[in-house]
This record gives sequence, structure tokens and C-alpha cells, in this order.
Amino acid sequence: MMRSFLPFLFLSMVSAQTVYLAGDSTMALGGGGSGTQGWGVLFPQFLTIPVVNAAVGGESARSYSDQGLFTKLISSVKKGDFVIIEFGHNDGTSGAVDNGQQDAVGDGFGITQNVTAANGSSILIHSFAFYIENAVNAIKAKGGVPIISSQTPDNIWSGSTIAPCGRFCTYAQTVGVDTSIVLVDHFSYVAQAYDNLGQTTTTTFYPIDHLHTNAAGALVVAEAFVRGLLCGTSTLKNFVNAAGKAVPNGCL
Ligand SMILES: *[C@@H]1O[C@H](CO)[C@@H](O)[C@H](O)[C@H]1NC(C)=O
Ligand SMILES: *[C@@H]1O[C@H](CO)[C@@H](O)[C@H](O)[C@H]1NC(C)=O
Repeated sequence: MMRSFLPFLFLSMVSAQTVYLAGDSTMALGGGGSGTQGWGVLFPQFLTIPVVNAAVGGESARSYSDQGLFTKLISSVKKGDFVIIEFGHNDGTSGAVDNGQQDAVGDGFGITQNVTAANGSSILIHSFAFYIENAVNAIKAKGGVPIISSQTPDNIWSGSTIAPCGRFCTYAQTVGVDTSIVLVDHFSYVAQAYDNLGQTTTTTFYPIDHLHTNAAGALVVAEAFVRGLLCGTSTLKNFVNAAGKAVPNGCL
């Protein structure tokens, strides 16, 4: 009785590994609405293990933390699970009144800033690195494997190439170094794919603005993440399937 039960127990332990996605509308189900789509929806077809897409439109590293979304996600994380974290599009400064999303400006964990809430009260906010590194450490504490990913590019061109990333790609790199976790330079891998396709084709991926892609664009963005994964050192690449191994473009 026990003897025949054991292989099933082993199988269920092996298949329990899950990939969680934390991010914004560029990753989320339904993207930014109006027929757009997030890359996290197209990503699972390239993996041999299940994906839980916990990305939510409009979120930044700070708001995803403050609303308890990291805490909720991390409460589900089991030993060996992967968590891909990708923010930046909603993390920029918001002007005179705080929008609940902006991070304190600067590259590093300990940076803070006082901002004015809509009701006039002063609130202390922290840096991109602070919010994400706290999540990374909580994921590690549960035996999970966090992966930091740089934000996706906008459809903004500088001549025949995608315009360079702003400060949040640098911040993502710093998080990777400071916490000794793998960075997937998603921005650069998407930029490579877009540069190869050209501006005319890439622009067909953006039906409403220069931020949110349609499903065809989300597929290119998902493929670019897989390429970055395969070219890097994360053990998540061991769970890329045959379709994933066949995604276009090369290592940077
Ligand atoms: C924020 O405000 C508090 C209280 O006035 C002050 O002690 C602190 O130094 C301020 N921090 C920053 C980064 O401005
Ligand atoms: C003012 O708004 C902030 C941010 O939403 C909130 O934390 C705080 O409790 C509010 N203060 C008052 C007095 O309503």
C-alpha cells in the first residue's frame, strides 16, 4: 500500500512548482483595456510548469506593496516557486499631489522622500529598490526564487532603434546586484526584437497608445522574456519547453 503510494507523492511534489508574475498592465490579463493584452498571458505557452499571473494594471513597486499585493502573492509561494517581478511604468514622479504610485527618486534601498497626499498630509515614501528588495527578501524567506525583470519599452524610437530605457531599468539592475538574484533585461531583449522587426511593424502592436500592446505585441514581448531567460543563469530556464527554446533572436 505505502510502496505504491510513494511515486505519486513524488510526482505531486515535482509538479507543484509554480511561476508567479508581479507587475503592471504591460504584464496583466487584459493589458490596459480596449483590446490590449499583457505579456504574462502569452508567457505560459513557453513553459512546462504553471504560471499564476498576479500582475495588476496601474500598479507600481510601491502601490503593489502598499495594497498588500506582494504580501498576498508571497503567502502562496512555496519552496522552489519562481516569482518574476517587473515594474517601472507607474513608478515615476507624480507632481504636487501624491498619486499613491510614485517611488522616492534615486537608486538604492535607503532613499526616502516626503510627499503631499491629496488631503494635504505629508507621507514618507521609499525607493523602488526598497519596495522590491523587501518583497525579494520575503520570497527568499519562503524558499522561493525571485527574478527581477526590467520594464518593457514604450513604442518610442530614436532613429531606427527603440529609445533607451529610463532610470527604472538601472534600478532593476541594482536590485539584482544588491539581492544577488537574476536580472532578466527584458527591456533590452524586447528592444532587440522591435529593432529587428522595425518601427512600422512594431507600431501595429500599439492600438491605443505607446505603452500597451495588442496580443500580437504581447507575444513578441513574452518571447523576448524567454530569450532573456535562456541567455541568463536562472534555473527557470530548465522549465522552458520546445516552443520556448525556438523563440527568435539571440543573446545580448
Ligand atoms: C520627512 O519628514 C520627517 C518629519 O517632518 C523628517 O523627520 C524627515 O527628515 C523627512 N525626510 C525626508 C527624506 O525629507
Ligand atoms: C490623508 O491621506 C493619506 C494617504 O492616503 C492617509 O494615509 C491619511 O490617513 C489621510 N489623513 C487624514 C487625516 O485623513
